[in-house]
Amino acid sequence: MNTELLVSDAAHFRIDYEINPYMHTDVQPDPAAAIAEHEAIVAAHLAAGRRVEYVASAPECPDMVFTANAAVVRGDRAVLGFPPPERKAELSYFEEWLVDRGYDVIEAPYPFSGQGDALACGDLLLAGYGQRTDQRMHAILAEELGYDVIPLRTVGPRWYDLDLAVAVVDAPHTLAYCPQALDEPSRGTLRALGLELIEVGLEEATRLALNLISDGRTVTMTRGAPRLAATLRERGLHVVELDTTQLAKGGGGVRCTALTLDNPPPRGSR
Ligand code: ARG
Repeated sequence: MNTELLVSDAAHFRIDYEINPYMHTDVQPDPAAAIAEHEAIVAAHLAAGRRVEYVASAPECPDMVFTANAAVVRGDRAVLGFPPPERKAELSYFEEWLVDRGYDVIEAPYPFSGQGDALACGDLLLAGYGQRTDQRMHAILAEELGYDVIPLRTVGPRWYDLDLAVAVVDAPHTLAYCPQALDEPSRGTLRALGLELIEVGLEEATRLALNLISDGRTVTMTRGAPRLAATLRERGLHVVELDTTQLAKGGGGVRCTALTLDNPPPRGSR
């Protein structure tokens, strides 16, 4: 499997506002360390044989390094995110990039955290709601992208995006998740899917261990979660652990910094 990811850069990464509980304007990233940390993540993708596309960050967009929130993409269609007002300025840059590349771009009419709340797993889309995503987006995602949408709700703002609570380890077979991060009905929904589930403890999940990128061979993840890393290695995966201490000041990790561009389209489509 050849993964294609859209990344930006950390040149303008700052904490100008607090829109998740991990952000504190009095705890700023070290600019050089943030750039180096992000470059190491990109280098790890390339070393894993993934293709990387790039959109330059804009000075007025301090969270633009977190490209995952820009959209969710399937085949040649992209449903744009509808971010909180603090991040609205990012949208036009991502929209322009997607349109230039020939994607059919659909604007979201309701709040939507993009791939942050929309994890593709084969024909399933694990879709968060109740934090940054309005539940009415689920029908739109099903209609526009042809996914079977699985609604999942996290228990609070610490899990403001689903990609902090659930990870796709090997699509469409294996997920990892933190049971305490999901409400009871959502835990039931997840178990009923019949997929293999790896449980991650609250402590490692809070260090954004689940905010990982896996292509089913290589897992790129934070260095802060040795137990999950060991579990994944026992399963034969190649695990690359990276520093995410600067990105963590924005409440993000590895998964947040890459928008997947090559989710397979529905069978039988163009
Ligand atoms: N500071 C960013 C925000 O709160 C972090 C976004 C992280 N993205 C993600 N997919 N979890 O919007």
